[in-house]
Amino acid sequence: MQLLENISLKPYNSFGINVESSLWVEVNSLEELQEALGNDKIRHGKIMILGGGSNILLTADFNGVVIKINILGKEILEETEKEVLVKTGAGENWHEFVLYALDQGWGGIENLSLIPGTVGAAPMQNIGAYGVEIREVFDHLTAVHRETGKAEKFDNRDCKFGYRESVFKNIYKEQYVITHVALRLTKKDHPINTSYGTISQVLEQNGIKDPTIRDVSNAVIGIRQSKLPDPEKIGNAGSFFKNPTIDKIDFEGLRAEFSSIPGYELPGDQVKIPAAWLIEQSGWKGIKRGNIGVHKKQALVLVNYGGGEGAELRDLALEIQKSVADRFGIVLTPEVNII
Ligand code: EPU
Repeated sequence: MQLLENISLKPYNSFGINVESSLWVEVNSLEELQEALGNDKIRHGKIMILGGGSNILLTADFNGVVIKINILGKEILEETEKEVLVKTGAGENWHEFVLYALDQGWGGIENLSLIPGTVGAAPMQNIGAYGVEIREVFDHLTAVHRETGKAEKFDNRDCKFGYRESVFKNIYKEQYVITHVALRLTKKDHPINTSYGTISQVLEQNGIKDPTIRDVSNAVIGIRQSKLPDPEKIGNAGSFFKNPTIDKIDFEGLRAEFSSIPGYELPGDQVKIPAAWLIEQSGWKGIKRGNIGVHKKQALVLVNYGGGEGAELRDLALEIQKSVADRFGIVLTPEVNII
């Protein structure tokens, strides 16, 4: 285990914010993680667990230790004619894993193509896109308790998944480090999900009637590339806010005033509203302020054009929140972790 000092975090966060961490250690296995968590220099200070750094906004230098999770590897735990249970190291890149699964002919995560970040971060916030969430294929994970150093198993129910939520963001916040994730994927008769938005349109345009999992993945990749900025080129962390859910009765009230407001009905007389619409209607889409701004093709994505500071982005997010609240009476919640 090598403890380094004063490391720039710029290459390790997709916003490309240039702040430093006073200490830095990379771990390549569960045992190395346990060793790091037990180290005296580390355990008494602040700890930041870093995966792909694609869902964080760093607003200041970090006076503590960053533990970078580099745990790699894929292992088949169980296999039948129909399904495979595959366990993956938390440090594997999510999209590369999706492509690997497609190469093996495994289905279930093709709609989650091109999501930045690591496998270990995926269940943390129950990643979702284009009508699918990881909870649907999630079997279990292994996580190490930060205080005791004990490795524990969490099955699907233990994780209490919700929309961009799990126990690891709530009751167990900052208590566990995910080291491995096991997903149950299909080997044949893959359920194909093309219900969301433009997937079916894109497939139709390409003349595909009976899409394979690879076709769905390609369609999703095409849609994402057309709307979302590539973090390699423009710093961003995907959706900055969650889509808010409000009571149906309040939604009816808003619709009386704003007739074009979109909403998706949920069970329990709730309606989910696209935050991007609220932000766009409040006049923020495509605005540029110095080095930062709001993406011109997706109003939910804040961007760093280069040289922007985390605090500037945080302040912009606060202004957006305030103007949406003033106009629509809805308080947006950040999806990104602001540190
Ligand atoms: N819309 C606008 N203006 C915009 C963009 C969208 O008004 O600039 C409205 C439109 O009405 C559109 C609706 O918002 O129909 C939904 O837009 P989109 O399909 O782009 O999805 P989203 O709700 O904005 C969510 C996820 C994304 C995910 C997409 C596709 C959240 C917070 N975001 O965005 O996830 O890729 O659906 O499934 O749930 C992420 O979490 O980082 C992320 C990118």
